[in-house]
Amino acid sequence: MNQVLVVDHPMVQNRLTEMRRVSTDSGDFRQHMAAVASMLFYEAARVLPLSRETIQTPLQPMQAPVLKTGLVLVSVLRAGLGFLEGVLPHLPTARVGYLGLARNPKTLEAESYYANLPKIMDEDQVFVLDPMLATGHTVIHALQQVEAAGARHIHLVTLLASPEGVANVQKAFPHVRIVTASIDTKLNEKGYILPGLGDAGDRLYGTLGH
Ligand code: URA
Repeated sequence: MNQVLVVDHPMVQNRLTEMRRVSTDSGDFRQHMAAVASMLFYEAARVLPLSRETIQTPLQPMQAPVLKTGLVLVSVLRAGLGFLEGVLPHLPTARVGYLGLARNPKTLEAESYYANLPKIMDEDQVFVLDPMLATGHTVIHALQQVEAAGARHIHLVTLLASPEGVANVQKAFPHVRIVTASIDTKLNEKGYILPGLGDAGDRLYGTLGH
């Protein structure tokens, strides 16, 4: 069964609270999203395998740790873009993929409108970035696409999750590790996480009410 890591670090929790406030504007929301994404990614990346390489310091050679495998980031549009902004500056050599998935507001099912994934090797560590794990339909769709593209080691990095979303992902992808800042109380009838933070994409890009 999946490992679920809830990152309870005070810096993460404080950012999340700022993002939940209805009074937080898009500019601040974006900054918090990028900052919290980089912190969550650090925790998610804690399990990455290292190997040793002989390097030369100015004083002597040494066996130094280096990341052993390739890294792939997959951003689930739209809100995943806000997450990617925080993670990418730390990973200049990561390959990046994009999956455009929209929720049908009536069925709450995910509908794919764009997919552009890089080549994924067996040994690559793949991080799927989607800030909101609500019903799980969108994330499960994304995980299916990523696995079909060859991913074997998959981590899901999300800011907020619902208990239903976590359970659905665990059922469909028991081997995928989930990293989140909070598992909130429940979903409302429209599939929004409660207490949540509203529509992450709208709040990131100032499209509330459109
Ligand atoms: N997507 C969001 O942006 N917010 C939710 O609460 C659920 C899904």
